[in-house]
Amino acid sequence: MLDKVTDINDLQKRARRRVPRMFYDYADSGSWSEGTYRDNTDAFSRIKLRQRVAVDIDNRSVRTQMIGQDVSMPVALAPVGMTGMQHPDGEIAAARAAEKFGVPFTLSTMSVCSIETVAQATTKPFWFQLYVMRDREFAEALINRAKAAKCSALVLTLDLQILAQRHKDIKNGLSAPPKPTLANILNLAFKPQWCFGMLGTTNRSFGNVVGHAKGVSDMSSLSEWTHEQFDPTLNWESIAWIKKRWDGPLILKGINDVEDARIAADIGADAIIVSNHGGRQLDGAAASIDMLAPIVDAVGDRIEVHFDSGIRSGQDIFKAIALGAKSTYIGRAFIYGLGAAGEAGVTKALDILHKELDLTMALCGETDIANVGHHNLLNPPSTARKTLQAKSATKRKTPAKPKATAARPTSRKQTSAKSRAS
Ligand SMILES: Cc1cc2nc3c(=O)[nH]c(=O)nc-3n(C[C@H](O)[C@H](O)[C@H](O)COP(=O)(O)O)c2cc1C
Repeated sequence: MLDKVTDINDLQKRARRRVPRMFYDYADSGSWSEGTYRDNTDAFSRIKLRQRVAVDIDNRSVRTQMIGQDVSMPVALAPVGMTGMQHPDGEIAAARAAEKFGVPFTLSTMSVCSIETVAQATTKPFWFQLYVMRDREFAEALINRAKAAKCSALVLTLDLQILAQRHKDIKNGLSAPPKPTLANILNLAFKPQWCFGMLGTTNRSFGNVVGHAKGVSDMSSLSEWTHEQFDPTLNWESIAWIKKRWDGPLILKGINDVEDARIAADIGADAIIVSNHGGRQLDGAAASIDMLAPIVDAVGDRIEVHFDSGIRSGQDIFKAIALGAKSTYIGRAFIYGLGAAGEAGVTKALDILHKELDLTMALCGETDIANVGHHNLLNPPSTARKTLQAKSATKRKTPAKPKATAARPTSRKQTSAKSRAS
């Protein structure tokens, strides 16, 4: 059924056909004009790679580590709210696909399946993403639940203290379960597989919240709670409070500015994710890939730098790694796979990205992802150019060794983060 699927675009087309419009649009949208959403992907296409030939490219590896944990490629599944509305029990399907593929799955606070439900359905630790709520007791309880479920990293999202406006969600009357408007009922009539699947599961609301947060026992109290609860007072001091309670690997998500990256590194997190929330928060913000090199330049020797926003192919992953990211996350790329075909669709998305990454690396003349760096880019960032010039000047002064191969810059500046037990 997925034989004819050759890229993430194909999965997106299938997801559009299978997922109710309200939930498909929820994924395929950015805030306001969607300018930053579009720019996230456009910016990748402006980056050009150096094609290298006549290099032995047999025996390649894209295996690496994220915060000291082994991964089969530099990719994790990003936290995505309401994943279980793209496909019945979507969080379980995605977590299982990630587990089998050997990459981390990150469960959103705003997931449909709860932390405990996903833990029961999987065998390896997954990561948990925390939105800090005004109700700090609830936030603390979430942290404790993630610990009890043996989550091996906490991803703390910093770029959603308040929700930006996404026009499509308002127009569609987005809610879980869908509002029974005439337009939505008509739309559901054309999505029979999704409807039957939903009838077969009890996971249809926000599993981490309903029955856990004060005063939220059903869907109607939930929507009011959600809007009131995102904490606009969240600040750098709050992070120290969370760090103390979590006491495990901590990743700060939503850094898109050099100054913020410096503060994040000072706080002593294990990694940051350079991200603009996939263009869903500040419309007009820079494409995250354009912010990656300056951020790596500023803090890459002190903290592990991860990246998301706009990845739709293995070439995009390669470019992010070449610009200094230790690893990447995918949001829509796996969500489209999930909407298209559940667990098999997520596996297909991961397969596609793995293959594209491996082939791109080979055609750039590299065999190990650890050696990919600025030298693989046709127009490396200006900071990198200085480093490369300095390196080649030193090389020229050094007497040539017998049988030396052509000088190639060493791997990127980024050092791997201190390993911590997972
Ligand atoms: C439908 C959707 C829901 C999301 N929900 C969350 C969330 O609950 N928590 C979070 O930290 N990020 C959330 N994000 C942002 C993703 O984690 C990630 O930053 C983004 O999807 C990366 O961009 P990409 O989709 O272009 O890969 C969401 C993204 C999408 C598309």
